[in-house]
Amino acid sequence: MARPRLAWLLTVLLLPLTARADEKPCTGRNAGKYYDLNGLQTANDYKFKTPEGHDMVLSACKSVSQETWHLEVEDPGQVGGFVRRDHGDFSLGQKNTTLSFSSRAPFHPHLTFTSGSKCVDANGNTLDHLRGSTEIEFVCDPAAGNGVPRLIAQLPPGGDAAACAWVFEWRTKAACPTSEGLTFGGVVWFLFISSLILLGLYLLVGTLYNYFMLGLARHRRAAALFRKQRDVPWARGMGEWERVVGEWTRWRI
Ligand SMILES: *[C@@H]1O[C@H](CO)[C@@H](O)[C@H](O)[C@H]1NC(C)=O
Repeated sequence: MARPRLAWLLTVLLLPLTARADEKPCTGRNAGKYYDLNGLQTANDYKFKTPEGHDMVLSACKSVSQETWHLEVEDPGQVGGFVRRDHGDFSLGQKNTTLSFSSRAPFHPHLTFTSGSKCVDANGNTLDHLRGSTEIEFVCDPAAGNGVPRLIAQLPPGGDAAACAWVFEWRTKAACPTSEGLTFGGVVWFLFISSLILLGLYLLVGTLYNYFMLGLARHRRAAALFRKQRDVPWARGMGEWERVVGEWTRWRI
């Protein structure tokens, strides 16, 4: 009976541990592999140029650190990347720390940024319903270090002023499958659960020991004591007295 209860206890205790692993930002599991892109978080953003020569700034797993300029979005603190246009910065989308995977490329984690700056139509009018968005495909490359994002598509055609959707490929060692590393919370849970298991074992062994070994020893000791009593004068006297009392009671009955 104790064993199912212990298993149940362990399940309850270990569940938060697995839940925590899933919740860690910028990590994900797909096709039996685990990915952790948090290594791409650096103090400096990743900077490069568009084909037309405008500065572009992108960040992974966090919002950009660099100051923005004339950025017209509701929450400038959440911007995942921007392009520095002639009249102000244009947001490539809000940062996102949820990895996604497509069936086309099951081993390439993706990040999707949406809700960037408002796009403009072919006549240069601002569109309220269409906003900048970005798709980054990460490709495992153990030799690339952190690597840099490479712009592979910018839509619609029409140059930097018209662009409103970007696709990047980012070859990086951070996109290689890894094992789930030890987090501080994980270590604390591990220690907590280990000590619970040890405590449980201690109680179990202690109880069994008390029940069997000490019980046995008590019987032995009692037997030994009884044997010894015959050699001790007063004990012999007691024994004698018991015999007398016994005989007396038998006689009375
Ligand atoms: C973040 O990425 C996930 C996975 O691609 C997507 O479902 C979600 O809509 C994105 N959130 C935002 C705010 O872009």
